[in-house]
Amino acid sequence: MEYFDLIAKRQSIRKYKEEPLPREDVEKILDAARLSPSGKNLQNWRFFVLDTKANIDALCEIIQGKNEEIAGKIAQTDEESGARFRKFCKNFTLFIKDAPVIILTMAKDYLPSGYQELKLSGAAQEELDYLAYKPNPGMQNIGSAMEHMALAATNLGYGSCWLTSANYAGAEIKEFIKEKTGFDKEEYFFTCMLSLGVPADTEHKSPKRKELADIAYFVD
Ligand SMILES: Cc1cc2nc3c(=O)[nH]c(=O)nc-3n(C[C@H](O)[C@H](O)[C@H](O)COP(=O)(O)O)c2cc1C
Repeated sequence: MEYFDLIAKRQSIRKYKEEPLPREDVEKILDAARLSPSGKNLQNWRFFVLDTKANIDALCEIIQGKNEEIAGKIAQTDEESGARFRKFCKNFTLFIKDAPVIILTMAKDYLPSGYQELKLSGAAQEELDYLAYKPNPGMQNIGSAMEHMALAATNLGYGSCWLTSANYAGAEIKEFIKEKTGFDKEEYFFTCMLSLGVPADTEHKSPKRKELADIAYFVD
């Protein structure tokens, strides 16, 4: 597919057919992430593929368990808000539970260029935090890998959806990854996930984008 057509064709898919994906296709998608650019070529990403119903169900249970925990705590002081959150909770696993593949992405921090020098120059913590967290290059790296995977999936005829809505259960998801794989690196944290599958929802259209004139400026 021509590259620009590929970009235009990609859209977030939230309903999939019950068709498994051949492992070699998932490997191609992961390879697209492997080849994506990263600041200082740090490659501060790790990917964990869930492609069995049992593992995806377990992931959903972890998220639902966290939802219950949060809702219960809210309800202790505000019953109505707790109940509202509990009702809303099913949405957090709705787009995950029937996907044939979920790629869980973990990342580690990246110290931005100039951070140490700025620190040595006596910069205030506020300025250092601004550099580390606002333009956060570590997360920019993850964005590049995620988009490479989404485009590779589109090119292979699959749908995908990049999801961060369950990030509040990141510590529990990290623990699950550790239990299942032995991956136990303290510096890594759960970042986001990508669902993958054959799209069932062919009617879906991406939401409208802003006009180019609203987001891009040619600086004279
Ligand atoms: C960083 C990021 C996080 C996202 N998180 C979610 C999510 O948690 N749940 C969801 O349904 N979609 C999520 N999306 C998908 C966006 O809603 C979607 O990309 C956007 O609405 C544009 O639609 P399109 O991807 O179909 O073009 C996320 C996308 C990005 C880039």
